Amino acid sequence: MLLKDKTIVVTGGNSGIGEAIVLAAAREGANVVIDYVAHPDETRSLVERIEAAGGRAVGIQADITSSTDLHAMIQKAVDTFGRIDVLVNNAGVETRTGLLETTEEDYEKVMAVNMKSAFFGSQAAAKQFIAQQEGGQGSGGLIINISSVHEDWPMPGNIAYCVAKGGMRMLTRTAGVELGPHGIRMVNVAPGAVSTPINASTEADPAKMRRLDAAIPLGRMAQADEIADVVVFLASGKAGYMTSSTVVIDGGIMQGSVGL
Ligand code: BGC
Repeated sequence: MLLKDKTIVVTGGNSGIGEAIVLAAAREGANVVIDYVAHPDETRSLVERIEAAGGRAVGIQADITSSTDLHAMIQKAVDTFGRIDVLVNNAGVETRTGLLETTEEDYEKVMAVNMKSAFFGSQAAAKQFIAQQEGGQGSGGLIINISSVHEDWPMPGNIAYCVAKGGMRMLTRTAGVELGPHGIRMVNVAPGAVSTPINASTEADPAKMRRLDAAIPLGRMAQADEIADVVVFLASGKAGYMTSSTVVIDGGIMQGSVGL
């Protein structure tokens, strides 16, 4: 069991990549905190599934676009399991609009859900890690951001998302430097195309899927489990010298070449 007795908090943990991370972490023995904003019934049944398999999980409702809610979420996690070891800033949305069409409302939503949440979630977790250290509860602390290949790679027609993910990349680089002296690490995971609800409209369109599969050297989208397995490895302590950097899991899509 790679995560035995570690407590891991996953924002947006009741669907897509977040749900896969929650299930993989619970299988590896972690105490799992599932943050959600909507769908309490789905979250409850996810908790029940984990408990039925002998794991430990709790759902906490928190709007991660609010710094107050994020701090309260970390506090509730600590109240439940005594401490936290890993925060996964996973919640994300995209609007699939370009610069010319993106409204101020779209922009603010994408920045708040992807970027502001990772910023203040990391702040809340880092403060808790430092408090634990000062309270004699061991060293360390890890923050994993679920970013995207689009932290580095333009996606025309999805510009606010690219801007937010680019911000997450600089958050990780800078906060990793600031927090390193406290023994706290921050790592980004950058998935390519993954079969999750965020890509439902692409998956429903056979022509788009043919184009997408052709653009991926491995010839297919990832399954959410393939991202979750890497998150478990990063959280396991077997990756203890990694910080401020990004792990790309994209089937090679970012190297895309027209082969001229
Ligand atoms: C986006 C998807 C896109 C994928 C690969 C993800 O971050 O959410 O919409 O298909 O990157 O480009």
